[in-house]
Amino acid sequence: MSAAPRVIVVMGSDSDLPTMRTCLDVLTKFGLPWEVRVCSAHRTPEEAVKLSREARGRGIQAIIAAAGGAAHLAGVLAAHTTLPVIGVPINSTPLNGVDALYATVQMPPGIPVATVAIGEFGAYNAAVLAAQIIGVADEDMQSRLSEFKRDMEAKVRQKDVQLQEKVKSSAP
Ligand code: RP5
Repeated sequence: MSAAPRVIVVMGSDSDLPTMRTCLDVLTKFGLPWEVRVCSAHRTPEEAVKLSREARGRGIQAIIAAAGGAAHLAGVLAAHTTLPVIGVPINSTPLNGVDALYATVQMPPGIPVATVAIGEFGAYNAAVLAAQIIGVADEDMQSRLSEFKRDMEAKVRQKDVQLQEKVKSSAP
């Protein structure tokens, strides 16, 4: 994206991208310019700290951090900024993301990480949550979010009607 980023999406490895692609797509849908980075709490700890410390000064409004396994990335980023940090636990080990969920969610008092669901549900919701956080002080974003909710409602109502028709037409 060419506009100055408002959200940074950080992942522990490029192997997290297939899960996180939906996050980038949803941010784009909400018109939120993003920057995507690979940065690891364990393999590049100094870069992680620098990225987090510099984010606010660059105009970033929220950080989304995705990692699998012993997932300390979101917590380390949260330790070095007052920006909201949203953590996405990635399913990349034999523990199926439960390890990453616990490592991301169980933060000590004073350093919150807004932890979303494991995997693609979480990737999707991380983008929606970032839009909602930014929407608190941004009326345009607020109207996009309202439209998003109306669209979801309309789709569910349509499915309800279609399901009833399908069941009726297939009744013996
Ligand atoms: C984590 O380890 C990453 O977030 C990824 O989910 C997992 C595996 O990383 P790679 O070995 O694919 O680089 O740090």
